[in-house]
Order: sequence, then structure tokens, then C-alpha cells
Amino acid sequence: MSFLSETLSRVKPSPTIAMTAKAAELKAAGRDVIGLSAGEPDFDTPQNIKDAAVAAIAAGKTKYTAPDGIPELKQAVCAKMKRDHGLDYTPAQVSVGTGGKQTLYNALMATLNEGDEVVIPAPYWVSYPDMVLLAGGTPVIAETSLQTNFKLTADQLEAAITPKTKWFIFNSPSNPTGAGYSRAELKELTDVLMRHPHVWVMTDDMYEHLAYDGFEFCTPAQVEPALYERTLTCNGVSKAYAMTGWRIGYAAGPEKLIAAMRKVQSQSTSNPCSVSQWAAVEALNGTQAFLAPNNEKFVRRRDLVVSMLSEIEGISCPVPEGAFYVYPSIAGLIGKTTPAGKVIETDEDFATALLEEADVAVVFGAAFGLSPNFRVSYATSDEALEEACRRIQTFCAALT
Ligand SMILES: Cc1ncc(COP(=O)(O)O)c(C=O)c1O
Repeated sequence: MSFLSETLSRVKPSPTIAMTAKAAELKAAGRDVIGLSAGEPDFDTPQNIKDAAVAAIAAGKTKYTAPDGIPELKQAVCAKMKRDHGLDYTPAQVSVGTGGKQTLYNALMATLNEGDEVVIPAPYWVSYPDMVLLAGGTPVIAETSLQTNFKLTADQLEAAITPKTKWFIFNSPSNPTGAGYSRAELKELTDVLMRHPHVWVMTDDMYEHLAYDGFEFCTPAQVEPALYERTLTCNGVSKAYAMTGWRIGYAAGPEKLIAAMRKVQSQSTSNPCSVSQWAAVEALNGTQAFLAPNNEKFVRRRDLVVSMLSEIEGISCPVPEGAFYVYPSIAGLIGKTTPAGKVIETDEDFATALLEEADVAVVFGAAFGLSPNFRVSYATSDEALEEACRRIQTFCAALT
């Protein structure tokens, strides 16, 4: 009898975390590695948010809270949903968790039975399929392509839905591609969902505020109000507010689902960190003034990376609408040989050789379910990005 659970054997550890760890290892050994693999902003948490946390500690707000969030934070989420999307939610329809990851996980744990299918467009954020597997469901991967800038089409969604589909996971702007769906593109998908009333939508709006060139962010329940009753709108403070370490995410949806998620959370982490919840209240209710200057930096970095990578023969790199990732295709480099004599047969070979021979850490596309590509996170300094892209250019130019 195996000591470890069979469920766990179906799941793999996060490859993005593994790549970041490998880069850190080489760095510790004295190598000048530039890491472009971590999915977190290099900005500091804004001061007003830190101050709110310090004030919460001073006021003794350091005890257990309600399992899925303090009333003040739930209220702040309701206000945000109204302000940004025109959506009405009551605090009983809001769940706060330990990071966006936990709210998504709670929802899957609370709803999936064996045989239930979850449609996930690829490339996807690495955790979606594994969380579905952990919860006992079956991920159904719907592949997108470079031709549509990695956006799922109505036909692709239609083809992936079966009578067993329980959820459709939607993520815009996307990790790993940065692709953001316009209102019209999203409406095409919600029209498909309207024809399949048994399918629920789990929308992961984590990169909502990181959108560029006037891109108008939309969330499914806003684009198709008739989906409100079967939509879980998930979001969090990690990325836009540079609060990855504080671990606060939230979701809004039908009360029955929120109650089921509360049950999962009450038997796992009890409640998200009390101090972080007070910081998140300030993040949502306080000034949003830092978002615009941060986004200006992100746009500059995106344009730098896209233009430098586009100069490389064999790489093609679409310009994404948001987040802080680009997802270039390396189709034109497959079959080539590196200076150290390694043949690049897969995108994993490419990323490994790039790290070992050029000291740049990226994440290979297979980790996100669509190859041959790699993901660059441009949430790092302009100087580091420029140097990293120069190294990638030199490495690619030396391939034979
Ligand atoms: C698309 C997406 N959703 C959710 C998360 C999880 O965010 P959190 O750190 O709040 O758990 C991430 C983090 O990388 C992400 O990229």
C-alpha cells in the first residue's frame, strides 16, 4: 500500500516555481543569472497599504477572523465589483482566501465530483489543471494558437464542452500570454455558454488592472448579465497591488457556492491572515493612483522585450494586451544545435540550454500546455530585461 495518496501522484509540482528555484541555485553558486521566470511585480507594496497593516497590528486585529473574510473586506469587494463592473453582490456572496490560488482551489474542491470536466484554454496558468486533478475532476484542455494571439475562439470552446462539463475557466489578461479579450471577443464565448446552461464560469481576473494601450477590461458576468447566476468572479490583490506575499484573494458568486467554499476553507486554513485582510481593505478602498505609473513602466518593458525578441530569426512574439508576460513562439528554432552541442527538440530543451549556456531563466511552454514557446515575465528592471534579451539574441544567433 502506498503511503502517499493516489491523487497526489496525478499532480506535478509547479514548473514556474521549479525554474525560479533552479535559477536561484545557479545564482547562489556564483553565476550571473537573470531571472525572467517569476510571476510577481518587482514593485514594493504601496505605503498606504503597509500603513494599514501596521495600524491593524497596533489595534490588536491579530486574532482569528470569520473563515472567509472580515465584513469590512467583503464590503470592500462588493464596492469594487459595483464600481469597476457594475455588478451587485452582497457580503454573503463574497469569499476571501489565502491568495487567489486558494479561492480557486476552494471552489473546485467544493464542486467537483469524479468525472466532472473542467474546460481550460491552453496555454493556461500552470495550477489550473493540477488543482482540478487534486479536486478529483478531469481537465479538458482547449488549445488556442498563435494565429489568434492565444485567444480561445467560440468554435474551440463549443468543441470542448460535453454533457460532463461543470466549469469553464477563463483568464484575461492571461498568464502566461498576456492576452486580453476585448468585449466583443468575450461576448462570442459567453454566447456559447448561453447555449450550455449546465456550464459554470470561473473567471480569474487577477491581472485586471494590468492592461495597456487603452485596453478595456471586461469580466464575463458584466458582458453577459444572464451568466451572473453561474459565474464565480475571482480576483485578488497580489499582482496589481504588488502584494504577492500577503496572500489575499477573493471571489464573488452565488451564495450557495460561497457557503460551500466557506466549508472547505473552515476545515483547511480557518481564515486568511487577519493583518493582510486589513491591508487588502486599504488596497481596494484606498487610492489607486499608483496603478497608472506602474502600468507605464510595464508598457515600456513589454515594448522593449517584444521588439528585442522580434528581431530574432526563428522567434515570433505577439504584442499582448496586459499582465506582465510575453509568450514567444520558437517554432523556427526547433531542430537547431546550441554552442554546447545540445539539439533543441522541445521548448524545455530551449529553456534549459538558455539557462545553462546564457544565464537567462525563462519558463518553457510545455509547462503551460502549448508548445513550442517560452514565457518571459517582464516584471523586472529595464536594465535586467535589456541585458537578458541581448543574451537571448546572442544565444539564438549562435544556434546552428
Ligand atoms: C492567473 C493567475 N491566477 C491566480 C494566481 C494566484 O495568485 P495568488 O498569488 O494571489 O494566489 C496567479 C499567480 O501567479 C495567476 O497568475
